[in-house]
Amino acid sequence: MDLKQLYQDIILEHGKNPRNFGKCENHTNEARGHNPLCGDQVQIFLKMNKEKKVENLTFQGSGCAISIASTSIMTELVKGKSIESAKKLIELFLTMIKSSEETKFDECDEDEKTKIMSLSGVTKYPMRVKCATLAWHTLSSAIEGKKQEVNSESID
Ligand code: FES
Repeated sequence: MDLKQLYQDIILEHGKNPRNFGKCENHTNEARGHNPLCGDQVQIFLKMNKEKKVENLTFQGSGCAISIASTSIMTELVKGKSIESAKKLIELFLTMIKSSEETKFDECDEDEKTKIMSLSGVTKYPMRVKCATLAWHTLSSAIEGKKQEVNSESID
């Protein structure tokens, strides 16, 4: 199987069977994101513990396969990491998607790298970039404790 096919399969599988879907109990942070072009929405629930570690991370919402897959993969990768690592991962992911620069995800294991890299092909489809990045911007907002909804049209 070639890499392109593997990446497509990962996106389709996460799109159909999203991980960490639902509202997590006792979350400490939450944020909403909205893509006004298609009406899709995402809500992120984060449970941070005293050591500033992401104990749980879940989401609710509706979106296209890329948006759901990106959110599902994000929750899998960020869960269990420190808040500092989560912020770094968000930054690296957004750099990869927006600039198609070669990105090194040093803090991820091989399995995690394959999952996050499966979304790298989105850079060739500018219309889909915001589908892939909405959840990541929304997670950033949840971490920062911002109250305002993230609007995909008002972010780069
Ligand atoms: Fe709505 Fe992709 S088309 S998020």
